[in-house]
Amino acid sequence: MKTVLVTGGAGFIGSNFVKYMLNQHPDYKIVNVDALTYAGNLENLTDIENSLNYVFERGDIVDRSFIQNLFDTYNFDMVVNFAAESHVDRSIEDPEIFIKTNVMGTLVLLDEAKNHWQTGKDDCGYPTYRAGVRYHQVSTDEVYGALGKTGMFTETTPIAPNSPYSASKASADLVVRSYGQTFKLPITISRCSNNYGPYHFPEKLIPLMISNVVALKSLPVYGDGMQIRDWLHVKDHCSGIDTILQKGVAGEVYNIGGNNEKANLEIVNLIIENVGEMLRSGKYPIDNDGSKISKELITYVEDRLGHDRRYAIDNTKITTELGWEPSYTFEQGIVETIEWYLNNQAWLEQVKSGDYQQYYENMYSKK
Ligand code: NAD
Ligand code: DAU
Repeated sequence: MKTVLVTGGAGFIGSNFVKYMLNQHPDYKIVNVDALTYAGNLENLTDIENSLNYVFERGDIVDRSFIQNLFDTYNFDMVVNFAAESHVDRSIEDPEIFIKTNVMGTLVLLDEAKNHWQTGKDDCGYPTYRAGVRYHQVSTDEVYGALGKTGMFTETTPIAPNSPYSASKASADLVVRSYGQTFKLPITISRCSNNYGPYHFPEKLIPLMISNVVALKSLPVYGDGMQIRDWLHVKDHCSGIDTILQKGVAGEVYNIGGNNEKANLEIVNLIIENVGEMLRSGKYPIDNDGSKISKELITYVEDRLGHDRRYAIDNTKITTELGWEPSYTFEQGIVETIEWYLNNQAWLEQVKSGDYQQYYENMYSKK
Protein backbone atom coordinates (compact mmCIF):
# COMPACT_ATOMS: atom_id res chain seq x y z
CA MET A 1 0.00 0.00 0.00
CA LYS A 2 1.40 3.38 -1.04
CA THR A 3 -0.17 6.67 0.00
CA VAL A 4 -0.10 9.31 -2.72
CA LEU A 5 -0.79 13.01 -2.25
CA VAL A 6 -2.41 14.36 -5.42
CA THR A 7 -2.77 18.14 -5.36
CA GLY A 8 -5.26 19.87 -7.64
CA GLY A 9 -7.21 16.62 -7.97
CA ALA A 10 -10.53 18.42 -8.45
CA GLY A 11 -9.32 20.13 -11.63
CA PHE A 12 -9.33 18.83 -15.19
CA ILE A 13 -6.21 16.67 -15.32
CA GLY A 14 -6.02 16.02 -11.57
CA SER A 15 -9.53 14.51 -11.43
CA ASN A 16 -8.77 12.26 -14.41
CA PHE A 17 -5.52 11.24 -12.68
CA VAL A 18 -7.19 10.41 -9.34
CA LYS A 19 -9.58 8.06 -11.18
CA TYR A 20 -6.81 6.61 -13.31
CA MET A 21 -4.69 5.81 -10.23
CA LEU A 22 -7.58 4.30 -8.24
CA ASN A 23 -8.36 2.08 -11.18
CA GLN A 24 -4.77 1.19 -12.01
CA HIS A 25 -3.48 0.73 -8.44
CA PRO A 26 -6.21 -0.63 -6.14
CA ASP A 27 -3.52 -1.02 -3.45
CA TYR A 28 -2.78 2.74 -3.37
CA LYS A 29 -4.48 5.26 -1.12
CA ILE A 30 -5.07 8.57 -2.90
CA VAL A 31 -5.36 11.76 -0.86
CA ASN A 32 -6.68 14.57 -3.04
CA VAL A 33 -5.93 18.08 -1.79
CA ASP A 34 -7.59 20.93 -3.59
CA ALA A 35 -8.47 24.52 -2.69
CA LEU A 36 -11.55 24.35 -4.98
CA THR A 37 -10.82 27.57 -6.84
CA TYR A 38 -13.07 28.45 -9.80
CA ALA A 39 -11.35 25.58 -11.67
CA GLY A 40 -11.82 22.91 -9.02
CA ASN A 41 -15.04 20.94 -9.01
CA LEU A 42 -15.98 17.96 -6.85
CA GLU A 43 -18.61 17.01 -9.44
CA ASN A 44 -15.66 15.69 -11.47
CA LEU A 45 -15.20 12.99 -8.84
CA THR A 46 -18.71 11.83 -7.91
CA ASP A 47 -18.13 8.34 -9.35
CA ILE A 48 -15.23 7.62 -6.97
CA GLU A 49 -15.99 9.85 -3.96
CA ASN A 50 -17.02 6.86 -1.82
CA SER A 51 -14.03 4.67 -2.70
CA LEU A 52 -12.45 3.27 0.46
CA ASN A 53 -8.93 4.19 -0.64
CA TYR A 54 -9.79 7.79 -1.59
CA VAL A 55 -9.83 10.87 0.67
CA PHE A 56 -10.56 14.49 -0.19
CA GLU A 57 -9.07 17.33 1.88
CA ARG A 58 -9.93 20.90 1.01
CA GLY A 59 -6.99 23.26 1.44
CA ASP A 60 -4.40 25.54 -0.09
CA ILE A 61 -0.93 24.24 -1.02
CA VAL A 62 0.49 27.64 -0.07
CA ASP A 63 -0.73 27.16 3.52
CA ARG A 64 2.33 25.67 5.21
CA SER A 65 0.70 24.56 8.45
CA PHE A 66 -2.11 22.84 6.53
CA ILE A 67 0.38 20.95 4.34
CA GLN A 68 2.55 20.12 7.35
CA ASN A 69 -0.44 18.63 9.20
CA LEU A 70 -1.37 16.68 6.13
CA PHE A 71 2.07 15.06 5.91
CA ASP A 72 1.89 14.30 9.66
CA THR A 73 -1.51 12.67 9.22
CA TYR A 74 -0.96 10.60 6.10
CA ASN A 75 2.73 9.69 5.91
CA PHE A 76 2.79 10.06 2.11
CA ASP A 77 5.04 7.97 -0.10
CA MET A 78 4.57 10.12 -3.17
CA VAL A 79 3.45 13.63 -4.07
CA VAL A 80 2.08 14.49 -7.52
CA ASN A 81 1.64 18.24 -7.79
CA PHE A 82 -1.05 19.31 -10.27
CA ALA A 83 -2.39 22.23 -8.21
CA ALA A 84 -1.88 25.44 -10.14
CA GLU A 85 -3.43 28.42 -11.77
CA SER A 86 -3.47 27.04 -15.29
CA HIS A 87 -4.96 29.56 -17.74
CA VAL A 88 -2.61 31.76 -19.79
CA ASP A 89 -5.22 34.48 -20.48
CA ARG A 90 -5.94 34.88 -16.75
CA SER A 91 -2.20 35.16 -16.05
CA ILE A 92 -2.03 38.13 -18.41
CA GLU A 93 -4.87 39.85 -16.50
CA ASP A 94 -3.70 38.98 -12.97
CA PRO A 95 -0.22 37.40 -12.67
CA GLU A 96 0.18 37.57 -8.87
CA ILE A 97 -1.89 34.53 -7.93
CA PHE A 98 0.10 32.53 -10.50
CA ILE A 99 3.38 33.26 -8.73
CA LYS A 100 1.81 32.61 -5.35
CA THR A 101 0.16 29.27 -6.11
CA ASN A 102 2.50 27.89 -8.74
CA VAL A 103 5.82 28.90 -7.18
CA MET A 104 5.18 29.31 -3.45
CA GLY A 105 2.82 26.33 -3.34
CA THR A 106 5.48 24.15 -4.97
CA LEU A 107 8.10 25.35 -2.48
CA VAL A 108 5.86 24.45 0.49
CA LEU A 109 5.22 20.95 -0.88
CA LEU A 110 8.93 20.37 -1.51
CA ASP A 111 9.86 21.54 1.98
CA GLU A 112 7.32 19.35 3.69
CA ALA A 113 8.26 16.34 1.55
CA LYS A 114 11.91 16.91 2.40
CA ASN A 115 11.24 17.35 6.14
CA HIS A 116 8.96 14.34 6.44
CA TRP A 117 10.90 11.96 4.24
CA GLN A 118 14.40 12.64 5.61
CA THR A 119 15.89 9.76 7.60
CA GLY A 120 19.34 11.22 8.32
CA LYS A 121 22.45 12.41 6.50
CA ASP A 122 25.11 10.65 4.44
CA ASP A 123 28.87 11.00 4.89
CA CYS A 124 28.95 14.13 2.74
CA GLY A 125 26.18 15.81 4.72
CA TYR A 126 23.42 15.26 2.16
CA PRO A 127 20.00 14.28 3.53
CA THR A 128 18.99 10.63 3.12
CA TYR A 129 15.36 9.65 2.56
CA ARG A 130 12.93 6.83 3.24
CA ALA A 131 13.07 4.23 0.42
CA GLY A 132 10.51 4.53 -2.36
CA VAL A 133 9.50 8.18 -1.89
CA ARG A 134 9.06 10.48 -4.88
CA TYR A 135 8.04 14.11 -5.51
CA HIS A 136 6.62 14.57 -9.02
CA GLN A 137 6.03 18.02 -10.52
CA VAL A 138 3.45 18.30 -13.32
CA SER A 139 4.84 20.93 -15.65
CA THR A 140 4.20 22.12 -19.15
CA ASP A 141 5.83 22.44 -22.57
CA GLU A 142 5.16 26.19 -22.29
CA VAL A 143 8.29 26.55 -20.12
CA TYR A 144 10.32 26.08 -23.33
CA GLY A 145 8.78 29.14 -25.01
CA ALA A 146 7.67 29.09 -28.63
CA LEU A 147 8.88 27.29 -31.76
CA GLY A 148 9.14 28.54 -35.33
CA LYS A 149 7.88 26.45 -38.27
CA THR A 150 10.26 23.57 -37.52
CA GLY A 151 11.86 21.78 -34.58
CA MET A 152 10.52 20.22 -31.39
CA PHE A 153 11.02 20.72 -27.67
CA THR A 154 13.34 18.17 -26.08
CA GLU A 155 14.19 17.95 -22.39
CA THR A 156 17.40 19.90 -23.07
CA THR A 157 15.70 22.81 -24.87
CA PRO A 158 16.53 25.94 -22.85
CA ILE A 159 13.79 27.27 -20.58
CA ALA A 160 12.38 30.49 -22.12
CA PRO A 161 8.83 31.11 -20.88
CA ASN A 162 6.84 33.93 -22.49
CA SER A 163 3.68 34.38 -20.39
CA PRO A 164 3.31 35.02 -16.65
CA TYR A 165 1.73 31.53 -16.45
CA SER A 166 4.65 29.78 -18.13
CA ALA A 167 7.14 31.90 -16.17
CA SER A 168 5.53 30.71 -12.92
CA LYS A 169 5.65 27.07 -14.08
CA ALA A 170 9.29 27.44 -15.20
CA SER A 171 10.17 29.03 -11.85
CA ALA A 172 8.54 26.13 -10.03
CA ASP A 173 10.48 23.64 -12.20
CA LEU A 174 13.74 25.34 -11.26
CA VAL A 175 12.90 25.21 -7.56
CA VAL A 176 12.05 21.50 -7.92
CA ARG A 177 15.34 20.91 -9.73
CA SER A 178 17.23 22.74 -6.98
CA TYR A 179 15.74 20.44 -4.29
CA GLY A 180 16.98 17.48 -6.32
CA GLN A 181 20.45 18.98 -6.71
CA THR A 182 20.98 20.56 -3.29
CA PHE A 183 19.07 18.20 -1.01
CA LYS A 184 19.08 15.05 -3.21
CA LEU A 185 15.29 14.90 -2.84
CA PRO A 186 14.04 12.22 -5.29
CA ILE A 187 12.19 14.46 -7.73
CA THR A 188 10.93 14.06 -11.29
CA ILE A 189 9.36 16.63 -13.60
CA SER A 190 7.07 16.01 -16.59
CA ARG A 191 6.45 18.61 -19.28
CA CYS A 192 3.35 17.95 -21.26
CA SER A 193 1.66 19.45 -24.29
CA ASN A 194 -1.98 20.61 -24.46
CA ASN A 195 -4.41 18.13 -22.92
CA TYR A 196 -7.99 17.53 -24.01
CA GLY A 197 -10.74 15.18 -22.83
CA PRO A 198 -13.56 14.99 -20.27
CA TYR A 199 -13.91 17.54 -17.41
CA HIS A 200 -11.90 20.24 -19.22
CA PHE A 201 -12.94 23.66 -17.90
CA PRO A 202 -14.69 25.68 -20.65
CA GLU A 203 -12.29 28.64 -20.53
CA LYS A 204 -9.89 26.52 -22.64
CA LEU A 205 -10.03 26.28 -26.45
CA ILE A 206 -11.65 22.86 -27.04
CA PRO A 207 -14.43 22.88 -24.39
CA LEU A 208 -15.10 26.59 -25.02
CA MET A 209 -15.64 25.97 -28.73
CA ILE A 210 -17.85 22.90 -28.12
CA SER A 211 -19.92 24.84 -25.57
CA ASN A 212 -20.32 27.84 -27.89
CA VAL A 213 -21.20 25.77 -30.98
CA VAL A 214 -23.94 23.99 -29.02
CA ALA A 215 -25.27 27.36 -27.81
CA LEU A 216 -24.89 28.87 -31.33
CA LYS A 217 -22.58 31.54 -29.88
CA SER A 218 -19.71 33.06 -31.84
CA LEU A 219 -16.41 31.19 -31.81
CA PRO A 220 -13.59 33.57 -30.80
CA VAL A 221 -10.43 32.63 -32.71
CA TYR A 222 -7.37 34.63 -31.59
CA GLY A 223 -5.40 36.38 -34.35
CA ASP A 224 -5.21 34.37 -37.57
CA GLY A 225 -5.97 31.04 -35.85
CA MET A 226 -2.80 29.48 -37.28
CA GLN A 227 -1.06 28.98 -33.93
CA ILE A 228 -0.13 25.33 -33.45
CA ARG A 229 -0.61 23.22 -30.32
CA ASP A 230 0.39 19.55 -29.87
CA TRP A 231 -2.63 17.73 -28.42
CA LEU A 232 -2.56 14.85 -25.95
CA HIS A 233 -5.57 12.99 -24.56
CA VAL A 234 -5.75 13.52 -20.80
CA LYS A 235 -5.82 9.75 -20.16
CA ASP A 236 -2.52 9.41 -22.02
CA HIS A 237 -1.10 12.19 -19.84
CA CYS A 238 -2.21 10.23 -16.75
CA SER A 239 -0.57 7.03 -17.96
CA GLY A 240 2.58 9.02 -18.77
CA ILE A 241 2.82 10.38 -15.22
CA ASP A 242 2.14 6.95 -13.73
CA THR A 243 4.91 5.50 -15.93
CA ILE A 244 7.31 8.14 -14.59
CA LEU A 245 6.27 7.37 -10.99
CA GLN A 246 6.92 3.66 -11.54
CA LYS A 247 9.99 3.72 -13.79
CA GLY A 248 11.32 7.29 -13.99
CA VAL A 249 14.80 8.07 -12.74
CA ALA A 250 15.04 10.56 -9.85
CA GLY A 251 16.36 13.94 -10.95
CA GLU A 252 15.13 13.54 -14.55
CA VAL A 253 12.76 15.59 -16.70
CA TYR A 254 10.42 13.77 -19.11
CA ASN A 255 8.45 15.36 -21.94
CA ILE A 256 4.99 13.87 -22.58
CA GLY A 257 3.35 14.46 -25.96
CA GLY A 258 1.20 12.61 -28.45
CA ASN A 259 2.59 13.82 -31.81
CA ASN A 260 -0.64 15.64 -32.71
CA GLU A 261 0.20 19.09 -33.98
CA LYS A 262 -2.88 21.01 -35.09
CA ALA A 263 -3.55 24.65 -35.94
CA ASN A 264 -6.28 26.18 -33.77
CA LEU A 265 -8.46 26.86 -36.80
CA GLU A 266 -8.27 23.21 -37.82
CA ILE A 267 -9.55 22.23 -34.36
CA VAL A 268 -12.37 24.77 -34.48
CA ASN A 269 -13.45 23.52 -37.92
CA LEU A 270 -13.35 19.91 -36.71
CA ILE A 271 -15.57 20.83 -33.76
CA ILE A 272 -18.05 22.67 -36.01
CA GLU A 273 -18.27 19.68 -38.37
CA ASN A 274 -18.55 17.01 -35.67
CA VAL A 275 -20.96 18.82 -33.35
CA GLY A 276 -23.13 19.73 -36.35
CA GLU A 277 -23.23 16.15 -37.61
CA MET A 278 -23.90 14.68 -34.15
CA LEU A 279 -26.73 17.11 -33.37
CA ARG A 280 -28.32 16.55 -36.79
CA SER A 281 -28.42 12.83 -35.93
CA GLY A 282 -30.92 13.67 -33.16
CA LYS A 283 -29.23 11.22 -30.78
CA TYR A 284 -28.29 13.74 -28.08
CA PRO A 285 -30.50 15.27 -25.36
CA ILE A 286 -29.94 18.81 -26.64
CA ASP A 287 -32.38 21.43 -27.87
CA ASN A 288 -30.43 22.26 -31.05
CA ASP A 289 -31.06 20.30 -34.26
CA GLY A 290 -27.69 21.31 -35.73
CA SER A 291 -29.22 23.06 -38.75
CA LYS A 292 -27.72 26.49 -37.87
CA ILE A 293 -24.22 25.20 -37.12
CA SER A 294 -21.70 26.43 -39.67
CA LYS A 295 -18.32 28.11 -40.09
CA GLU A 296 -20.18 31.45 -40.03
CA LEU A 297 -19.97 31.17 -36.22
CA ILE A 298 -16.19 31.79 -36.35
CA THR A 299 -15.16 35.32 -35.28
CA TYR A 300 -11.56 36.41 -35.50
CA VAL A 301 -10.75 38.42 -32.38
CA GLU A 302 -7.76 40.36 -31.07
CA ASP A 303 -4.77 38.12 -30.47
CA ARG A 304 -3.48 37.07 -27.03
CA LEU A 305 -0.54 39.23 -25.91
CA GLY A 306 2.77 37.42 -26.44
CA HIS A 307 0.89 34.51 -28.06
CA ASP A 308 3.26 31.55 -28.58
CA ARG A 309 3.09 30.54 -32.23
CA ARG A 310 3.87 26.85 -32.09
CA TYR A 311 4.50 24.06 -29.57
CA ALA A 312 5.67 20.54 -30.47
CA ILE A 313 6.91 17.89 -28.06
CA ASP A 314 9.64 15.39 -28.81
CA ASN A 315 8.62 12.40 -26.66
CA THR A 316 11.59 10.17 -27.57
CA LYS A 317 12.94 10.00 -24.01
CA ILE A 318 9.79 8.71 -22.31
CA THR A 319 8.98 6.32 -25.16
CA THR A 320 12.45 4.81 -25.50
CA GLU A 321 13.68 4.91 -21.88
CA LEU A 322 10.42 4.15 -20.04
CA GLY A 323 8.38 2.37 -22.73
CA TRP A 324 5.38 4.73 -22.56
CA GLU A 325 3.17 5.18 -25.65
CA PRO A 326 0.06 7.31 -26.14
CA SER A 327 -3.01 5.18 -26.79
CA TYR A 328 -5.35 7.73 -28.43
CA THR A 329 -5.23 9.08 -31.95
CA PHE A 330 -6.45 12.67 -32.08
CA GLU A 331 -9.23 11.70 -34.49
CA GLN A 332 -10.62 9.13 -32.01
CA GLY A 333 -10.04 11.30 -28.93
CA ILE A 334 -11.71 14.44 -30.25
CA VAL A 335 -14.87 12.58 -31.31
CA GLU A 336 -15.11 10.88 -27.89
CA THR A 337 -14.53 14.23 -26.19
CA ILE A 338 -17.24 16.00 -28.18
CA GLU A 339 -19.63 13.12 -27.40
CA TRP A 340 -18.75 13.41 -23.70
CA TYR A 341 -19.66 17.11 -23.70
CA LEU A 342 -22.90 16.52 -25.61
CA ASN A 343 -23.87 13.85 -23.07
CA ASN A 344 -22.79 15.93 -20.07
CA GLN A 345 -24.49 19.27 -20.65
CA ALA A 346 -25.58 19.36 -16.99
CA TRP A 347 -21.91 19.25 -15.91
CA LEU A 348 -21.08 22.01 -18.38
CA GLU A 349 -23.95 24.21 -17.15
CA GLN A 350 -22.92 23.59 -13.54
CA VAL A 351 -19.28 24.64 -14.08
CA LYS A 352 -20.43 27.67 -16.06
CA SER A 353 -22.80 28.76 -13.30
CA GLY A 354 -20.09 30.30 -11.03
CA ASP A 355 -18.26 33.46 -12.08
CA TYR A 356 -17.77 31.99 -15.57
CA GLN A 357 -20.30 34.24 -17.36
CA GLN A 358 -18.70 37.32 -15.90
CA TYR A 359 -15.22 36.09 -16.77
CA TYR A 360 -16.37 35.34 -20.31
CA GLU A 361 -17.98 38.73 -20.84
CA ASN A 362 -14.97 40.62 -19.40
CA MET A 363 -12.51 38.58 -21.40
CA TYR A 364 -14.24 38.59 -24.77
CA SER A 365 -15.91 42.02 -24.73
CA LYS A 366 -12.40 43.52 -24.70
CA LYS A 367 -11.42 41.60 -27.84
P1 NAD B 1 -7.11 23.19 -13.75
O1 NAD B 1 -7.09 24.67 -13.71
O2 NAD B 1 -8.23 22.49 -14.41
O3 NAD B 1 -7.03 22.61 -12.25
C1 NAD B 1 -6.20 23.16 -11.28
C2 NAD B 1 -6.68 22.63 -9.93
O4 NAD B 1 -5.80 23.15 -8.92
C3 NAD B 1 -8.09 23.08 -9.55
O5 NAD B 1 -8.82 21.99 -9.04
C4 NAD B 1 -7.87 24.13 -8.47
O6 NAD B 1 -8.93 24.21 -7.53
C5 NAD B 1 -6.59 23.62 -7.82
N1 NAD B 1 -5.83 24.69 -7.15
C6 NAD B 1 -5.54 25.92 -7.63
N2 NAD B 1 -4.86 26.61 -6.70
C7 NAD B 1 -4.71 25.80 -5.63
C8 NAD B 1 -4.07 25.94 -4.37
N3 NAD B 1 -3.45 27.07 -4.03
N4 NAD B 1 -4.10 24.90 -3.51
C9 NAD B 1 -4.73 23.75 -3.84
N5 NAD B 1 -5.36 23.56 -5.01
C10 NAD B 1 -5.33 24.58 -5.90
O7 NAD B 1 -5.72 22.76 -14.36
P2 NAD B 1 -5.34 21.53 -15.30
O8 NAD B 1 -5.55 21.92 -16.70
O9 NAD B 1 -5.97 20.32 -14.77
O10 NAD B 1 -3.76 21.47 -15.06
C11 NAD B 1 -3.22 20.72 -13.99
C12 NAD B 1 -1.71 20.87 -13.99
O11 NAD B 1 -1.19 20.40 -15.22
C13 NAD B 1 -1.23 22.30 -13.84
O12 NAD B 1 -0.09 22.28 -13.02
C14 NAD B 1 -0.87 22.72 -15.25
O13 NAD B 1 0.14 23.70 -15.24
C15 NAD B 1 -0.38 21.41 -15.82
N6 NAD B 1 -0.54 21.24 -17.28
C16 NAD B 1 -1.75 21.43 -17.86
C17 NAD B 1 -1.90 21.20 -19.23
C18 NAD B 1 -3.23 21.36 -19.92
O14 NAD B 1 -3.29 21.26 -21.15
N7 NAD B 1 -4.33 21.60 -19.22
C19 NAD B 1 -0.79 20.80 -19.98
C20 NAD B 1 0.45 20.65 -19.36
C21 NAD B 1 0.56 20.86 -17.99
O1 DAU C 1 0.80 23.59 -23.67
C1 DAU C 1 0.33 23.23 -22.41
C2 DAU C 1 -0.60 24.31 -21.89
O2 DAU C 1 -1.80 24.19 -22.64
C3 DAU C 1 -0.87 24.19 -20.40
O3 DAU C 1 0.32 24.39 -19.70
C4 DAU C 1 -1.92 25.22 -19.97
O4 DAU C 1 -2.25 25.03 -18.59
C5 DAU C 1 -3.16 25.02 -20.80
O5 DAU C 1 -4.12 26.01 -20.48
C6 DAU C 1 -2.83 25.09 -22.29
O6 DAU C 1 -2.42 26.44 -22.64
P1 DAU C 1 -2.89 27.14 -24.02
O7 DAU C 1 -2.77 28.59 -23.86
O8 DAU C 1 -2.22 26.51 -25.18
O9 DAU C 1 -4.44 26.65 -24.04
P2 DAU C 1 -5.79 27.43 -24.42
O10 DAU C 1 -6.85 26.40 -24.46
O11 DAU C 1 -6.01 28.63 -23.58
O12 DAU C 1 -5.49 27.92 -25.90
C7 DAU C 1 -5.15 27.00 -26.93
C8 DAU C 1 -4.92 27.82 -28.19
O13 DAU C 1 -6.18 28.35 -28.62
C9 DAU C 1 -4.01 29.02 -27.98
O14 DAU C 1 -3.24 29.19 -29.16
C10 DAU C 1 -4.98 30.18 -27.83
C11 DAU C 1 -6.15 29.79 -28.70
N1 DAU C 1 -7.48 30.26 -28.26
C12 DAU C 1 -7.86 30.02 -26.98
C13 DAU C 1 -9.09 30.44 -26.52
C14 DAU C 1 -9.51 30.18 -25.08
C15 DAU C 1 -8.32 30.90 -29.14
O15 DAU C 1 -7.98 31.12 -30.33
N2 DAU C 1 -9.54 31.32 -28.69
C16 DAU C 1 -9.96 31.13 -27.41
O16 DAU C 1 -11.09 31.57 -27.05
